[in-house]
Amino acid sequence: MNKKVELNIDGKVLELPTITGSEGEEGMDISALRSKTGFITLDPGYGNTGSCKSAITFIDGEKGILRYRGYDIAELAEKSSFVETAYLLIYGELPTATELAEFSTLLTENQMLHESMRFHFEGFPHTAHPMAILSAMINAASSYYPDLASGDNREMNFPHHAARLISQIRTIAAFAYRKAHDLPPIYPRSTLDYTANFLHMMFSQPGEDCELNPEIVKALDLIFLLHADHEQNCSTSTVRTVASSRANLFASASAGVCALWGPLHGGANQAVLEMLEEIHQEGDDGTKFLTEVKNKVGNRRLMGFGHRVYKSFDPRAVIIKQQCDKVLAQLHKSDPLLEIAKKLEEIALNDEYFIARKLYPNVDFYSGIIMRAIGIPTDMFTVMFAIGRMPGWVANYKEVMEDTDSRIVRPRQIYTGATLRPFVPLDKRA
Ligand code: ACO
Repeated sequence: MNKKVELNIDGKVLELPTITGSEGEEGMDISALRSKTGFITLDPGYGNTGSCKSAITFIDGEKGILRYRGYDIAELAEKSSFVETAYLLIYGELPTATELAEFSTLLTENQMLHESMRFHFEGFPHTAHPMAILSAMINAASSYYPDLASGDNREMNFPHHAARLISQIRTIAAFAYRKAHDLPPIYPRSTLDYTANFLHMMFSQPGEDCELNPEIVKALDLIFLLHADHEQNCSTSTVRTVASSRANLFASASAGVCALWGPLHGGANQAVLEMLEEIHQEGDDGTKFLTEVKNKVGNRRLMGFGHRVYKSFDPRAVIIKQQCDKVLAQLHKSDPLLEIAKKLEEIALNDEYFIARKLYPNVDFYSGIIMRAIGIPTDMFTVMFAIGRMPGWVANYKEVMEDTDSRIVRPRQIYTGATLRPFVPLDKRA
């Protein structure tokens, strides 16, 4: 039975309706608060604000649970693939064999960028961050599909555009990498699966195909799958906010890329590697660094440890660590940064400072190590995250479009600026 919630403002009592989610989480509905009382709520960072009802992803941070459409992340990681999981997130059910084949065909048919997009790539300086190129090019790609910009999203061919976006983000990402490294673009190959095709576009050379080690392909596919959705995080909320104005799918996704870019969000995986490089340059094996972290010298943090939501463990980190060990063993990699990472992990997991604060490795600690081992440059790490997150953004966009109760996102504020004052002419200003 729903609990009764009452709000008492100066003796005037307002009963607030409550809502219980399918996993038992409870909320109070304040949508009539302002019209009935004149009050609004203030919740910086929206830590206590449910912005929507969603049936896509469930997280219980205390118990370390992450589920896509009801399926446990560990089971999906073991038994599914990124492409199948993308279908699940977007359409709500695991695909039949026919549906999966059709979806894969759509991805392949839509993998090529419009040829004139090559001129856009030419316009970027070599110093451009790949995330800047990614967001600009996703938005630019929408201009080649007039039905996207018709202003009526019911007119658009959603399955084609969704597949186009998921497929082309990979092509744009690889082109961005090659542009930054002054390498000629490598076109996608229809015979390759999603992740193998990406590695081919990244690392093959004209006339010389790169080796596609199945364990490496699997590891990267797993990284994409583990990042595919994560409830109402900063970038997904951004996508939903832009979508609420009925902006098109590509414009909404492009905004998601920008939100993901920041170091407090998707940029954390890059920060892990930068931290390891700094420790190495100082000639430390990690011991001195951890002492400084614990003593809060310069407010240093062990990047890749801790999480706002997960307080027992990050279920994605548990899965990715196993893959990380396999990849490193396969590649027989000898890398001083990887040695430092292992040392940091070993010390931190047994140290009272980290145990007491419930600080465990998060997904970014290991994904950064795997990506480095397979040769992906540090400034491409957040791009990898964006490729993985695209199905989640698409699924959330679709949910907004299909929600008949959806309203344009328009938060209120508590104004704290100057009150009314007369205009001061220029010659009278101090
Ligand atoms: N290293 C050292 N100490 C830490 C760390 C860390 N990584 N994270 C938290 N702490 C300490 C804080 O200093 C604080 O200590 P105190 O109680 O002595 O003051 C305590 O733990 C609680 O810290 P908060 O900042 O309140 O924890 P919060 O849950 O708000 O922060 C966050 C979560 C931002 C992820 C934090 O753990 C952090 O900065 N981690 C490193 C960055 C990182 O890896 N981010 C990626 C997150 S995963 C993702 O985005 C996919």
